[in-house]
Amino acid sequence: MRLAILGASGHGKVVADAATLSDWSEVVFFDDAWPNLTQNGPWRVAGGSRELMTQATQFDGVIVAIGNNRVRNARQRELKDAGLNVVSVIHPSAVISPHASIGVGAVIFAGAVINACARVGAGSIVNTGAVVEHDCSIGEYSHLSPNSVLAGGVSAGRMVWVGAGASIKQLVVLGDEVSVGMGSVVLNDVPAGQTVVGVPARLLNSQN
Ligand SMILES: CC(C)(COP(=O)(O)OP(=O)(O)OC[C@H]1O[C@@H](n2cnc3c(N)ncnc32)[C@H](O)[C@@H]1OP(=O)(O)O)[C@@H](O)C(=O)NCCC(=O)NCCS
Repeated sequence: MRLAILGASGHGKVVADAATLSDWSEVVFFDDAWPNLTQNGPWRVAGGSRELMTQATQFDGVIVAIGNNRVRNARQRELKDAGLNVVSVIHPSAVISPHASIGVGAVIFAGAVINACARVGAGSIVNTGAVVEHDCSIGEYSHLSPNSVLAGGVSAGRMVWVGAGASIKQLVVLGDEVSVGMGSVVLNDVPAGQTVVGVPARLLNSQN
């Protein structure tokens, strides 16, 4: 089983590790940002997205490993529209309820826990050690950074970014494209597009 990864980044290395520890026997990177790059750590970089398209039949699956939520969204859609088989990658040490759902193109890293009836949207990243409690709903192309915790029933929109070590109280609603600073504790709903930081979390640049 051969996996193509678009995005020869540090994040891509973690995706490659998770892939080779699970179902994939070979990983090859592609990247448009660094045309002269030939290696990403121990893995080969075989060109950019043009080369990926021409070599697509040589791969059993493809995934986008780009941390920026908007860019990951755009690139995954391009690959799907071109008819490529976009897959998810799940580290073998992640614990995922049989009653949870994981969207296409998502990555679930080592030690992450996704509990019963939680839903993780397409193209999302559940990073190392992150906890998604029961009945949470995570929109497409979101990123839950390492050791972040979403308590039961949290609803996060599309392209939400939860920083490392942040905690979200049960049933809180995070609007589309919300960012939560690392280490923050979010107790109340956050409107779309806003950034909150601190303990308890407040709107960034807000006087309140
Ligand atoms: C929230 C965040 C996105 C803001 O980034 P930014 O817009 O560049 O903001 P700045 O660094 O300019 O900081 C703006 C203000 O917010 C404060 N602030 C920033 N992040 C904070 C945080 N996590 N907790 C508390 N305060 C924070 C800064 O101290 C600064 O305060 P000041 O204006 O009183 O000096 C960023 O700090 C952050 O936490 N990112 C998450 C990083 C992460 O988890 N990475 C994991 C990747 S796998």
